[in-house]
Amino acid sequence: MAVTAHAKLDARALRRDFPIFEQEMHGKPLAYLDSANSSQKPRQVLDAVDRFYETSYANVHRAVHLLGERATSALEHARVRVRELLNAPDAREVIFVRNATEGINLVAYSWGLNNLGPGDAVVVTELEHHSNFVPWQYIARRQGAEFLMLTIDENGDPDLSELEAVARDHTVKVVATNLVSNSLGTIHDLAPLVSWAHEQGAIFVCDAAQAAPHMKVDVRAIGADFVAISGHKMCGPSGIGALWGRGELLRAMEPFLLGGHMINSVRVDKTTWGELPHKFEAGTSPIAEAVGLGAAVDYLEAVGLDAIEAHEHELAAYALGRLAEVPGITLYGPPAERRAGVVSFNLGDIHPHDVAQILDLQGVAIRAGHHCCQPLMQKLGVAATNRASFYLYTLPEEIDQLVDGLHAVRKVFA
Ligand code: ALA
Repeated sequence: MAVTAHAKLDARALRRDFPIFEQEMHGKPLAYLDSANSSQKPRQVLDAVDRFYETSYANVHRAVHLLGERATSALEHARVRVRELLNAPDAREVIFVRNATEGINLVAYSWGLNNLGPGDAVVVTELEHHSNFVPWQYIARRQGAEFLMLTIDENGDPDLSELEAVARDHTVKVVATNLVSNSLGTIHDLAPLVSWAHEQGAIFVCDAAQAAPHMKVDVRAIGADFVAISGHKMCGPSGIGALWGRGELLRAMEPFLLGGHMINSVRVDKTTWGELPHKFEAGTSPIAEAVGLGAAVDYLEAVGLDAIEAHEHELAAYALGRLAEVPGITLYGPPAERRAGVVSFNLGDIHPHDVAQILDLQGVAIRAGHHCCQPLMQKLGVAATNRASFYLYTLPEEIDQLVDGLHAVRKVFA
């Protein structure tokens, strides 16, 4: 009897968990192919947030009453679930932030302002989302450090042959890359870059916002020093993400945001900081959002990250095959087995916004634009692309609907 490597998920059954799919768009079935932009939310997550507000809501860490205790334990349980998801050594190293962007800004400001200076270099790649590009560019320049970008090939892989010259000419302090590209879907093998970063004495910062929805992200296996994720891309609420950092680095860092909750003591002559994670969680936390993220982790683990990854690979392969049938299409990025459920393309010289608008009228939702990756667009020689992205609830017939829609776009522009 044949044994399959991965448990297979039943996208049609899972789809019933997502109330958003109970409606049509413009009188057509909804083909939601914009999950890399933001994923939809299952009832299990919506119910967990509702239930929390209805039964357990109060502010956390500062109330002695029962509701305050319940809310605090719900928030801390969510932190433990994120620790487990990421295989992080200690839940105190998991900092709740608004999104991966905020997590990376936290590292850039808090670590960068105290550790970067003239003669140092920060290295990113041409394939970074602006969230892992702009904060480093800004902080490096502010500190008089160099900001360097590794070029990529047509699959989105960085050119590692550039590393030798970088190491010869610079003191590299930070290497920052994504694990999965939000634009091309490329899944990177980070091992060579992580080892190289550590050989240079640099920290390795991993933007896992597009990876965590798709595959098991194991901070210990990656060997990173910081890993940032966003809840909204992985079935969780918007407004919540997490930054994991090595405890010794986080403990040595200055706070990022200052105010309530993050202090140990406040005097007019001196204020001291609280312990982890509180030092980095100033103000009232996104409490219900964190609870929702914890429920999203429960949901994803119940479905199985291996099964999600396998499903997305199947969809990517199907989409690449079907899209290739459309005359005039240009497809960007690596082969299906090297990519998550993300396919970027252009249709002749039709502007991606026009393509996306006509598709919308067919019930097909995709993203058109630069995908927060302008350096990549420059590399591709385009201002923008169309991007279809898939998730655990995506069905092949939604990809068929996309392909039919693209034929309709071609007719409009014929
Ligand atoms: N980073 C999000 C995207 O890829 C917003 O669309």
